[in-house]
Formats: sequence, C-alpha cells, structure tokens
Amino acid sequence: MLQKIISVSAMAMIASASLAQVNTVSLNVGEAKTVINKNIYGHFAEHLGSCIYDGFYVREGNKTIPNTDGVRNDIIDALKKLKIPNLRWPGGCFADTYQWKDGIGPKNKRPSIVNRWWGGVTEDNSFGTHDFLNMCKRIGCEPYLAANVGSGTVQNFIDWIQYVNYKPASSPMALLREQNGQKEPWNVKIWGVGNEAWGCGGNMKPDHYANIYRQYATFMTDWTNSDSLFRVASGANVDDYNWTETLMREIPANMLEGVALHHYSFVKWSEKGSATDYSEEQYFATMKTALRMDELVTKHSTIMDKYDPKKKIALVVDEWGGWYNVEPGTNPGFLYQQNTMRDAMIAGVTLNIFHNHSDRVRMANLAQAVNVLQSVILTNKEKMILTPTYHVMEMYNVHQDATMIPAKIISNDYVFNGGKIPAVSVSASKDKDGITHISLVNIDASKPQDIVVNINGAKFSSVSGRVLTSQKLQDYNSFTEASKIQPAIFRDAKLSGGQLQVKLPPFAVVVLTLK
Ligand code: AHR
Repeated sequence: MLQKIISVSAMAMIASASLAQVNTVSLNVGEAKTVINKNIYGHFAEHLGSCIYDGFYVREGNKTIPNTDGVRNDIIDALKKLKIPNLRWPGGCFADTYQWKDGIGPKNKRPSIVNRWWGGVTEDNSFGTHDFLNMCKRIGCEPYLAANVGSGTVQNFIDWIQYVNYKPASSPMALLREQNGQKEPWNVKIWGVGNEAWGCGGNMKPDHYANIYRQYATFMTDWTNSDSLFRVASGANVDDYNWTETLMREIPANMLEGVALHHYSFVKWSEKGSATDYSEEQYFATMKTALRMDELVTKHSTIMDKYDPKKKIALVVDEWGGWYNVEPGTNPGFLYQQNTMRDAMIAGVTLNIFHNHSDRVRMANLAQAVNVLQSVILTNKEKMILTPTYHVMEMYNVHQDATMIPAKIISNDYVFNGGKIPAVSVSASKDKDGITHISLVNIDASKPQDIVVNINGAKFSSVSGRVLTSQKLQDYNSFTEASKIQPAIFRDAKLSGGQLQVKLPPFAVVVLTLK
C-alpha cells in the first residue's frame, strides 16, 4: 500500500513537472477590438554613416548600381515587399542641425555642412527633401519628417510645411517648390517637432520643451481647412516618466497627436559588446532590456491615460532596436553593426509588445533601415543583404491593420545565471478576411518550448506557419552567405479540437496562419 502511495505521488510529481514545461496561451477572439496600426511597422533613415549616402542613395548617374534618381532599386523593392508604412527622416540627432533649404535646388549649388553628431563628415546636402519624398512615393510609404527645433526657427519649420504641402503656385514656398521641379505638393502628414529635446535636440528641461512645442504647434498647419497634421512631440528617454507627465499636463490635447518614446536594447550602455561575437550572458542581458519595452509602454501609457482617457494621443516609439559596438575597422561614428538571430528575437518580442499595446502604441520606427544599428538591409557596394530582422518584419506584416486578439500567456522562464525572463512571447490578430495570425517567439537560447494555445470564440480547420531560426544564435547573413537565415515552412503546429499544440525550437520566431 505504502509503495502504491509513493508511486502515485511520484507520478503526480512527474506529471506536474512535465505540465510545468508546457507554456499555455489563451486567445479570446471575441474580445478582439483594437486595430494594430500598420504604422507600428515604421522605419527610420538618418543622415548617419552609410544609411543615406552609400546606403539608400548612390547618386544619379551611378552605372554600377541600378538606381532611380540615385536611389538604389534593390532597396526600394525590398522595402516595398516589407510593406513599410512610414519612414522617418532626416534624424535623429541630425534633425536638429538640419537646414532643409540647404537640400533643395540645383545639387551643385547646395552648401556643405559638417555632420556634427555622426563622424564629423562633410554633408553635401545632395540628398534633400525632393529626393526623400519622391523615394517614399516609390516605396509606397508615408514620409515622417522630423524637423529642426533645437537649432531652428518657427519660421523655417513652417516654411518647410508650406514648401511640401501648399497647393501649386499660390504661395512663396509652393512657387519655390515648382521652380525646383515639383508642381504637386507631397501632402506630408507626419511631423516630428524636434528629436530628443532632452539631449542632442537642445538639452532642454521638460517644461521648457513643452512651451517650445506649444509655440511651434501653434503655427503648424497643413494649409487646408481640415488641419490633418499628425504632430509628434519629442518624447521621453526610456523611463523618464516625468517627461511624459510634463508634456501631457502642459500641452493642450488639441495641439498634440503623438508623444514619442525612445528605447534601445543593449548589454550595457557603457559596454555594448560585439554585434556577432557575444556570449549567452550578453544575449540574456540584451533580451532583458528588449523585454523592458513592455514595462515602459505600460507606464508611459498609464500617465497618458490620466490626461487622455480616450486614448486620442498616440505613443510613438520612434526609435527602438539593438545597439552594439560597431563592426571592427568601421568608423565609430557610423554605428554600422551586423544583425544576428539576437536581433530577430528583439524584433519579434518588441513587435509582440507593440501589438499587445495597440490601443496606445500606434506608431513606431525601428532604428535604422539601412547600414545603421538594427538594420533590415545592409549594403556593400553593389551587394545588398536582408538581415534576420528584415525577415521577422516581413513575416509579421500580416498583422498590419488587423484586429489584435488579446492573448494571455503562462510562460516558462528562461533562466540564466540566477536571472530569469519569460521564455515565450506571443501576440495574435484577425485580419480583414477573417484569417487569424499568431506570432510566437522562443527567446530561450537552448531549450525548445511546448505551447498549448486555447482558442476561445473561433473554430479553425487548418494551421500553417513559417519559422525563422538558425544553427547558432550568433548566426547572421553576410555578403558571402546572404541566405544563411531565411524563413522556412514550420511544421510543428497541430490543431485538435479547439486547441493548438506548438513546439518552438530554441531562439526561434514563428508566425502561424489559422483558417
Ligand atoms: O539612432 C541613432 C541616434 O540615437 C539618433 O540620432 C538619436 O535620436 C538617438 O540617440
């Protein structure tokens, strides 16, 4: 008898141990109501290193790299395929030094400046407003102009709006635009009122910036009666909650459409480590900062809720991504880094966080699109490669403008050196055709994860999926092995009854399609 009791309790222990290893996700399809704004999938292109020059822009007349008006055709095609909804330009820190009038008119007559923030290189202003806005048209994305506040004037700022938005031939700026070859306005809606005003944008205190913002916003108009500009206030650095509180309290709600937030992922700010040659300890630390995005958007949103309970003002995370040491031998001011499976993990979990907070986070911009920080594209002369981050964003773009399905998760821990973070991240949505997509990330560097997904409020008859993973966490796509990491068909998801069973390999991103 005693033996029987012992073996029953041993079995119970085994059962509970194996139960503990299964992650559970509950999806409530009936509660889906918030749309995942496609603008969460925005990108960022600064005059920094080889993002614009020798990245997007290889100059008119370039005979070795196929281009249209100097912009690489392969980049345009790749970003079109990625369905990027918006592109932020010209900075970053560069924005608050940028004089837009230096970047219009005949290219051989444009003045040069020194790029004060990024490597002290000479900027010849050959890529300017027309180049950027026409490039956005070709990509099919909305331009997001970050305008100079830190070293600019209100007049210069509003002249820029008039230049790009005023109807043909009826204002001084519209005439100037026409003289420069562009009759029709571009109708730019999204405007950043400075960048990092607490730092490179002027080292301002929040009250001071709130006043400056009010002053600029007063004169900003789209020159139509509808006044549909989307004005983004320069937002907090990471957990500077006082910054958000001050802006929300001091700026009238009718003068503000978005408040920004910047947060990067790294090992330690003072010791970022290599982008490719990192230990599991460094990986774990990076993922911990990436997951912190959830706490940041939750707390900034809670402050915003106090002043804007109807959530009319968006939280705009217009800089996010991994930040490591530059590649050996490259200019430290150019922020050029490779992109491994660690970056794929950052992208997967961050986008899941944004989806799950889509009631408030309605725009975001990965830093940066090409050759800078966590890029989706790297170039080397005529070669171009797509990074693991590109593939995650492409796999995830099925969520753009779909309705978020609230997901509850009980996740295993990813334990390392006494620290722990959740191993699994999830988000889900239902698109306009009624198709449900579930994005799952297993952050754990060595353990696979079994996941049971209970779906309430919908029935499905088929599941298919795609997975991004690799042999080693440190793997990356290089100019000699461009397709080492790319999405593959995922076969480890099974539907039975109302339940979905999934087995995720270690460090993997999976997107499932349920019909
Ligand atoms: O993305 C690189 C830099 O990081 C941006 O210029 C600045 O806004 C931020 O500090």
